[in-house]
Amino acid sequence: MRTCRSTLLLFLTGLMLSSACSGTIDGSDDPSDGPDTPFEPVAPHVYVAKVKNILTGLPPTNEELAAVVADPNALKGLVDVWAASPEGQGKLVKWLSLAFQQTQFQGLDNMRVTDASSRLKGLMRESIARTALALTAEGRPLIEMMTTKRFMMTSAMMEYYGYLDVRHVGDGNRVRVKPWQANGGNSWILQNTRPIPLERTLDPSSPDYMNWYTPASIGPDCPTRTYDGGTSAPGYLHLMLYGQVPPSGDCPTYRMGIPATLIYEDYTDWRMVTVRQPKEGERTTPFFDLPRLRSSTELVLDIPRVGFFTSLPFLGEWDTNRANDARVTVNQALIVAFGRSLDSETTIVPISETGLDDDHVTPGSSCYGCHSILDPMRGYFRRNLTVSYHEQLDPEQQARPATFSFEGVNETGSTLDDFGAALAKSPRFGIAWTQKLCFHAASAKCSEDDPEFLRVAKTFEDSNFDLRVLLRELMSSPLITGAARTKTFEDREVVVSVARYDQFCGAHLNRLGVDACNLGTMVRRTAANLPSDGYSRSGEAPVINSETTLFYRAATENICRAVAHSVLEPRVGVGRYSTADEKGAILDFVKTVMGIPEADPRHAESLQILEEHAAEAQQAGFSPLDALRSTFVLACTAPTAVAVGL
Ligand code: HEC
Repeated sequence: MRTCRSTLLLFLTGLMLSSACSGTIDGSDDPSDGPDTPFEPVAPHVYVAKVKNILTGLPPTNEELAAVVADPNALKGLVDVWAASPEGQGKLVKWLSLAFQQTQFQGLDNMRVTDASSRLKGLMRESIARTALALTAEGRPLIEMMTTKRFMMTSAMMEYYGYLDVRHVGDGNRVRVKPWQANGGNSWILQNTRPIPLERTLDPSSPDYMNWYTPASIGPDCPTRTYDGGTSAPGYLHLMLYGQVPPSGDCPTYRMGIPATLIYEDYTDWRMVTVRQPKEGERTTPFFDLPRLRSSTELVLDIPRVGFFTSLPFLGEWDTNRANDARVTVNQALIVAFGRSLDSETTIVPISETGLDDDHVTPGSSCYGCHSILDPMRGYFRRNLTVSYHEQLDPEQQARPATFSFEGVNETGSTLDDFGAALAKSPRFGIAWTQKLCFHAASAKCSEDDPEFLRVAKTFEDSNFDLRVLLRELMSSPLITGAARTKTFEDREVVVSVARYDQFCGAHLNRLGVDACNLGTMVRRTAANLPSDGYSRSGEAPVINSETTLFYRAATENICRAVAHSVLEPRVGVGRYSTADEKGAILDFVKTVMGIPEADPRHAESLQILEEHAAEAQQAGFSPLDALRSTFVLACTAPTAVAVGL
C-alpha cells in the first residue's frame, strides 16, 4: 500500500517528501491491496487540512487542528461550520452544479448577446445548485430537487426564460412567435426623439405601449426604428434590453452601446421564484417588463419547468433529436437520481435508425433489455416537450404513453411532474448521492458494499435527505479522512489527487482573494490545462482526473508566478505581501498558501525551507522583491498546495 502516489513525486522537493507523507506512508510499496494491506491511520493534521480544503478552499487553523487532535469527533461540528461559511457555500455551488449536470452547457438557444452571454451562462449553471442550497436552508430534503417548482433565479435569468418562452420551436424545427404582447401584437418601436417613461411603454392601456425611448443615438438617419412583426421581433427586443440596436426594416444598420435596460443587480438579485404554467385564459409573464420581474417571485411560462431536469443547462447539455427521442434526457436524469445509467460505460450502443421501433423491442434481442425500460420513459418528455425542448403541441406526441419502470419503481403518468415524482421514489437516492460526494471528496469511488459507506447513506436517508447530514457524515468519515480502516481502503488505496481546476483556483480565491485562474488571457489559457470534472454521456461516474502530468506541473507553476506578481507588487501598500515584512510574508506563505499552521508537525521544517530559499535567491543576486516572489512560487507549488490529501 502506498498513499503517496509515485506520480506526485514530481512535485516533491527534497526534504518535503518525507515530512509531507509521514503518517500516511507505511514504507511498503506492495500494489496488491486487500484485507492484508497494512494500514496506518492518516494523521489529523493531514485530514483536517484535506476536509477543510475540499469544503472551503481554506487552510486549517491551529485551533481547528487542536480540537480534532483532542477529540476526533470535533470534525463533525467543524464540517457543519465550514459548509455553512460563505466560502463553503460557494464551493458547494460548484459541486452541486456538477452533480446535477448543469456545468457543461455551452450555448444558449438563439442567445446572440455576446457580451452578456458568459455572465448569463454562469448564472444559469448555478441556478439549480443554489436552489438545492436554498431548499436545504429551509430544512427541505435534497430529493425535492426532483420535483421542485421553485428555483433560485435572478431577474436577468427570468428575462431569458421568459424570452425563450415566447418562441416556439416544433419537432420539425419550425420557429413560430406566439402572441407575446398584451394586445396580441408582435411589433415595437425604438426612438430617441420623444421621451416616454418606462411605465407608459409597459402599460397596455397607454397609446405609447411598446414604444421604447432611449436618449442615446440609434443611428444618424434613424431617430425611429420600427420592428414590425416577423419571428425576430421579440429577439430584437431582447437584444435591445442588453443595449443593442438591431437592424429594422427602415434602418438596416446594426448598432451597439445604448444604455442597457438590464442593470448589474439583475444578475445578482437571487431569490426563490415559483415557475408555473398559465391558468385558463392567463397570460405568461412578459419577459421585457423588467420592473415587474424585479419585484416578482413568480414566473408564468408555457414550457413546463420542474426539478433539476428541465433547467436550460441540463437540457442544453443533453440535447436530443427525433432519432434519439429524449432517450439521452431520460438516461441522464436517471444518473442524477439513481446513480445508474441504462448504458454501462463500456457498452457501445449501436446507433441505427432502421428498425428502431421493431428490433430493439423484440424480447430476446440484444437491444431489449435496455430499451424495454428506457423507451417507455420517453413519453414523459415527448408528450410535453418537442425535441428543441419547447412545449409539445402535436396531438400525436401528446398521446404517447409514459411508463416508469426502473429499480423497483413502477409508475404510469403523463406529465413531467409525474416523471419527477417517479425519480423522487428512487430507492438509490441516498446511495447515489453519497457516491457523488465520495467522488468529489475522495477523487475516487467508494465501495458500495462497504459497511461504512452504507452507514453514511442510511444516515443521510434517515435524516430525510438533509444535505447537511450527508456532508457532516461523509466528510468526517474514514472513507474520506483515512483515519480508520475501511472496506473501501482495502479495495483501493487512499487517493491523493492533484488539485483540479475548481480546487486549485478556488483555494487561491478564498485564501488570497486572488482570482488566480483569471489573471489575464495567458493565465486563462494556462488554467484550461488544469483538469476539471465533468460527466460524459451515459457515464454513471463523473470523469475525474486525479493524476499529475507535466502539463499540470507547468500550468500550476505558471499560474503561481502570475499570482506572485499580483500579491507582491513593487508599489508599497498594494498587494497582500511586501518586502518590508519578509518574515511575516514567509510565515503566511506556510500557513495560508501551503496550508500548514504552527500546530502541524511539518510547520517548522517548511518555514525553514522557504526562508533558506529566500536567502539563497538574494545571495544569488535577485532583488528582495524577486527573491520573495520566487519563494511564493515555491510555496504555491508545494505538495500540500497542488495536491489534495497530503
Ligand atoms: C446497454 C443498454 C442498451 C442496449 C443493449 C441497447 N441500447 Fe440503444 N440506447 C441505450 C441508451 C441508454 C440510449 C440513449 C443514450 C444517449 O442518447 O445518451 C440508447 C439510444 C438508442 C438510439 C437512439 C440513438 C440516437 O440517435 O441518439 C437508438 C436508435 C438505439 N438506442 C437502438 C438500439 C438498438 C437497435 C439496439 C440493439 C442492437 C440497442 N439500441 C441496444 C441503451 C441501450
